[in-house]
Amino acid sequence: MPTVLALETSCDESAAAIVRDSAVLASAVASQVEEHARWGGVVPEIASRRHVEALPQLIERVCAESGVAVSELDAVAATVAPGLVGALLVASVSGRTLARLHGKPFIGVHHLEGHLCSVQLGDPLPPGPYLVLLVSGGHTELVKVEAPGRYERLGRSHDDAAGEAFDKVARLLGLGYPGGPAIQAAAEEGDPRRFALPKGRVSRPEGGFHPYDFSFSGLKTAMLRQVRALAAEAEASGDPLPVADLAASFEQVVAEVLVERSCRCADDHGLGTLVLVGGVAANKRLRALLEQRCNASGLQWRVAPLAYCTDNAAMIGVAAAHRLAMGLTSPMELGVAARLPLGDAARLYETAPAF
Ligand code: KG4
Ligand code: ZN
Repeated sequence: MPTVLALETSCDESAAAIVRDSAVLASAVASQVEEHARWGGVVPEIASRRHVEALPQLIERVCAESGVAVSELDAVAATVAPGLVGALLVASVSGRTLARLHGKPFIGVHHLEGHLCSVQLGDPLPPGPYLVLLVSGGHTELVKVEAPGRYERLGRSHDDAAGEAFDKVARLLGLGYPGGPAIQAAAEEGDPRRFALPKGRVSRPEGGFHPYDFSFSGLKTAMLRQVRALAAEAEASGDPLPVADLAASFEQVVAEVLVERSCRCADDHGLGTLVLVGGVAANKRLRALLEQRCNASGLQWRVAPLAYCTDNAAMIGVAAAHRLAMGLTSPMELGVAARLPLGDAARLYETAPAF
């Protein structure tokens, strides 16, 4: 049962956790959302500075809360890719320094592998391979998970990630940042059927459509047109913009398109379980629709616990514990990378540093 200290600073949450296999002994997250909200998005330079300020205290806190001394750790882990380079460096350098000082192995973790592992922090999964719908601010992917470290991507977005679409549409509707929670709150009283919006499809060069791929750019444009038309009407009539109905209709079409294509993909590939992870997995409408459609079609389903949908270090610790159990560690010279496909995650454990 390896005990791991895990650090995460790839975007705008600083996080530290101590996990023992997939049990969380302590987990702490310091969000910078309020600061970035002033700018309507993440400012990389501010993110790096805030990580430097927050991380030491978070490490201290999880050590104190878990009662685990650094000397008792089996490894120190940090997210090393993908993400904002200056932000990633904070956890990477802190993690490698601690590991070196205390003679512990260092495990670099792929951020998306962390998200995939977040579901293991909840109810146990049924046996066998399963399909994961990973929806975050930067990624929208359908991944078949055979075993830890064995992944096959079966679908993806060709333009915006689902979370990005939430963030952009929220800005359009004059709601706050991050857009996901703001749209969810605004949509609560709205009519999800009021506006008919497109379920973007991705054409194949040889004809037809990619059955498991996504496109959110057409939906974004449709929302923009709708808002402009309504704004002109609102100006003439003096009525306010129907923000709640717009938000609910948008949320509904995104949830439908994600769930419909995921269920079809699971079905076509003979996968009996569908798993939902990533920041957008916190969305209530999406969680409810996934449950309803899976139950109707006889698919088993799991959603990551709410606390571990958005970025956190506990999920990074679980991913690291799996790699350690496989006998893998990273070289101390391993750096960070802004981009790295999930399929290349094994490169983090090669003897010569991948970057
Ligand atoms: O996984 P995450 O914390 O960071 C990345 O790895 O990108 O995901 C952040 C994204 C943001 O785009 C945010 O708007 C979205 O997740 N999000 C939500 C909700 N909570 C966060 N989207 C829809 N509904 C939510 N309740
Ligand atoms: Zn993330």
